[in-house]
Amino acid sequence: MVKICCIGAGYVGGPTMAVIALKCPSVEVAVVDISVPRIAAWNSDQLPIYEPGLDGVVKQCRGKNLFFSTDVEKHVSEADIVFVSVNTPTKTRGLGAGKAADLTYWESAARMIADVSKSDKIVVEKSTVPVKTAEAIEKILTHNSKGIKFQILSNPEFLAEGTAISDLFNPDRVLIGGRETPEGQKAIQALKDVYAQWVPEDRILTTNLWSAELSKLAANAFLAQRISSVNAMSALCEATGANVKQVSFAVGTDTRIGPKFLNASVGFGGSCFQKDILNLVYICECNGLPEVAEYWKQVIKINDYQKNRFVNRVVASMFNTVSNKKIAILGFAFKKDTGDTRETPAIDVCKGLLGDKARLSIYDPQVTEDQIQRDLTMNKFDWDHPLHLQPMSPTTVKQVSVVWDAYEATKDAHGVCILTEWDEFKDLDFQRIYDNMQKPAFVFDGRNIIDVDKLREIGFIVYSIGKPLDPWLKDMPAVA
Ligand code: UDX
Ligand code: ADP
Repeated sequence: MVKICCIGAGYVGGPTMAVIALKCPSVEVAVVDISVPRIAAWNSDQLPIYEPGLDGVVKQCRGKNLFFSTDVEKHVSEADIVFVSVNTPTKTRGLGAGKAADLTYWESAARMIADVSKSDKIVVEKSTVPVKTAEAIEKILTHNSKGIKFQILSNPEFLAEGTAISDLFNPDRVLIGGRETPEGQKAIQALKDVYAQWVPEDRILTTNLWSAELSKLAANAFLAQRISSVNAMSALCEATGANVKQVSFAVGTDTRIGPKFLNASVGFGGSCFQKDILNLVYICECNGLPEVAEYWKQVIKINDYQKNRFVNRVVASMFNTVSNKKIAILGFAFKKDTGDTRETPAIDVCKGLLGDKARLSIYDPQVTEDQIQRDLTMNKFDWDHPLHLQPMSPTTVKQVSVVWDAYEATKDAHGVCILTEWDEFKDLDFQRIYDNMQKPAFVFDGRNIIDVDKLREIGFIVYSIGKPLDPWLKDMPAVA
């Protein structure tokens, strides 16, 4: 029986291993983590991450061929294939600060694998990693191997949160990079045999190590670039009276461009896009390619511009001050169908409004008060460390209250900001919300999900990204 161990029971490791266990009954899968509460949650009815369909998959396999454990060393030493899916934060000090990845957790995982191994192993990098990680890990393993042979593979994960299970069941492609030696090719084949149990062979692509790593960065950079492109257009639409939805639809019907990832928004978030682009920028700079680095930096700059622009629209519309006004924030997660808040645009928007002394009442169906308070007090990039090493938030932001209902959040509010496209927000009774708000009542839709005409009929002053402006907003400055 093939034994797989995955180090890191997070958003990538957990769902990916659960699906491997489901699809490969003859493989034994152990998911290990240093975080005791995280493993306890994986072994309970309340899984540590919210992902549609995940519960069912875990319930079918847990205790049969899927195990969650904190006994990292035991499971690593017994495994034939070790996936590594640990945190790779952005460095905040020293060489490459603000761009380069901090490989502390990766390096300690690699050293531990070398220490505890008694048999040959395939080591697979799974989490989003910076460039050339595989090469670095290979060096650590081979220098400490005591004669044991390690083969390194790069098998980047392309799942998106909120649709992780269907992405894993039916991936566009599985990418496996390895050394072009006979041993490297044998390792690639061993991992291919696992995926081939449910993924059609023609969707399993094999490359060299570095191409696999770079493909992941490139794919995420291309996706993020589409969003920044349409967000840049949204600013032009507002300035000229075009409608970004109509523009992006027209653009996306060109089969060479395609319709996906063209929704204008308050900005992209998530653990990957910004981090991967920063890594790409760093490697370009290190390789003497400042023009290429500058090109990709713009994708992040436009994303920051979009978040700022949104805050400025809110403040400018409300007579240039939100001081002591109640603003309802609907949605805090970085996208719908996840409780994940890593790099969510809501953090920057809320911080911007708090900077103007607003009082915030926040509602998100999946994000806890503790998480929101943490996010609003944490320093940039601190989120990407194992939970027990993250700074606790002894100070809570007093002007922020977190409630469990959209009607409660909007009661007596001066304005409403929609920051996540949760389906339930489309069905809200906006007449009821309007009746219970201060007047004039404002709605700022950062996700373009509401019916603008209907809300204007009710009496709201409405701003919806990239849509023709309400006469109220026309002469207000959009950028500070
Ligand atoms: C992304 C990649 O899609 C995935 O392949 C990779 O493995 C990890 O990074 P994820 O971050 O989970 O996945 O979500 P994604 O659906 O890509 O959304 C990222 C952000 O872009 C979200 O904040 C989303 O709201 C935003 N977005 C997406 C838009 O603003 N407009 C769009 O048209 C699409
Ligand atoms: P991702 O989104 O890439 O899955 P997460 O932050 O959700 O990232 O998960 C990474 C996990 O890796 C965390 O649960 C963290 O506790 C775990 N981890 C970090 N370092 C180690 C290590 N050396 N050994 C075991 N687990 C680790």
